[in-house]
Amino acid sequence: MYKVGIITSSDKGSQGLREDKGGPAIQSIIENFSSDFVISKYIILPDEKDQLAAEMIDMADNQKLDLIVTTGGTGFSKRDVTPEATLSVIERRTPGIPEAMRSISLEITMRAMLSRAEAGIRGDSLIINLPGSPKAIAEVLEPILPSVRHGIDILQGRDAECARK
Ligand code: MTE
Repeated sequence: MYKVGIITSSDKGSQGLREDKGGPAIQSIIENFSSDFVISKYIILPDEKDQLAAEMIDMADNQKLDLIVTTGGTGFSKRDVTPEATLSVIERRTPGIPEAMRSISLEITMRAMLSRAEAGIRGDSLIINLPGSPKAIAEVLEPILPSVRHGIDILQGRDAECARK
C-alpha cells in the first residue's frame, strides 16, 4: 500500500471561488494506475509558502504518507510559491522527476519551460510538484508513475533492486 496526499495550491480554490479540477484529476489518475495507491488526504490551500510547507511536513512526519503531490503554484505569477515551500521542507532534491516531466511536456508545448516544479525526499516521503491544469496533469503524471513507485520502493527499502527488469 502507498498512502498519498494531494495538496492543491490555489488562492481562489481555497476560498471556494473556483472549483478545483487539479486535485480530482490527480486522484483519478493515481487510483486508475494501481489499487495499491490510496488517497489518504486531499486539501486545498491558499498560495502561502508557510501553510503549504506546514501541510507537507504534517503529511510526511505525522501522517507518514508515502507520496505527497501538489498541484498549482509552479508558474511565474508572484503568488506562485509551491516550489519554494517544497524546497524549504525537503532533505534531498530529486531533480530527475521534474526534468522528466518538463521533457515530456516540451514535446507538447514550449510553455512547459515556464514550469518551476521541484521534487524531493523528506524522511520516507516523496514530494512532487505538478502543474495546475488537469490537461497538464494528465500529460505528465501517468508516464512518471511507474518510476515514482520504484523510487519510493528504493527509498523505503521495499525493493533494494534497481536493475531494470
Ligand atoms: N506541462 C504540460 N504537460 N502541459 C501544459 O499545458 N503548461 C505550462 C507548464 N507545464 C503545461 C505544462 C504552463 S503554461 C505553466 S505557466 C506552468 O506549467 C506552471 O503551471 P502552474 O502555475 O499551473 O503550476
